[in-house]
Amino acid sequence: MEKLDLVYEGKAKKLFSCEDGDLLIAEFKDDLTAGNAAKKGFQEGKGALNCKISNQILKLLEEYGINTHLVKILDDTHQLIKKVNIIPIEVVVRNVATGSLTKRLGISDGKVLPFALVEFYYKNDDLNDPLLNDEHCIMLDLVKSESDLEELKRLAREINSILKRFFASKNLTLVDFKVEFGTDKDGNILLADEISPDSCRFWDSKTNEKLDKDVFRQDLGSVKVAYEEVLNRILKG
Ligand code: TMP
Repeated sequence: MEKLDLVYEGKAKKLFSCEDGDLLIAEFKDDLTAGNAAKKGFQEGKGALNCKISNQILKLLEEYGINTHLVKILDDTHQLIKKVNIIPIEVVVRNVATGSLTKRLGISDGKVLPFALVEFYYKNDDLNDPLLNDEHCIMLDLVKSESDLEELKRLAREINSILKRFFASKNLTLVDFKVEFGTDKDGNILLADEISPDSCRFWDSKTNEKLDKDVFRQDLGSVKVAYEEVLNRILKG
């Protein structure tokens, strides 16, 4: 399948049309951004690492019955994906307090949360992705019904329980992550976008060393080394 026209370019990926009108080709970029692109960087090979990590995670989730947009892995930086209408809600799941949660609510960094906390953020760069409650989502027509919101929460919790267990077996704590969902032409909700160290926080289970985009956000060292470590642990049996 060949790339035809560029139909969308985001901070970390480009989407191209292809011969099949129901599918797109996603290309993972080496660009790094943080704080709604207030900080920008570039790491050669980052796109390939995220593509490989995301492929492994989406395939794992498919094995557990989660429907995703992934159709086929094309090469190191390209995936064939189903075309979906992205629901403009970033669904964040948190197991350990850090990042914006600690700043917003004064919870101490590293506190293990008593349950997986699901949050919705408005996917809107102009507004800086603000936090949403259920009524905001309905009022803004971001979903069709309250039952869609319940389905997003159910899927997010299920993805969390699968991935938390999986990463624990790799000596990684899944601190938090962000997922996006879309609807296909038949109205089915599919897991879309990527799941990678750009969109998750991974801490080494023993040392709490950060192995995710916080390395870039906080200038903690080599992004490539951190992301390679995550991929190697995923691939190790
Ligand atoms: P936060 O602590 O900055 O709110 O981030 C929570 C999680 O969501 C973290 O794993 C990073 C991820 N995330 C994204 O992938 N994209 C975003 O735009 C934001 C704000 C967070």
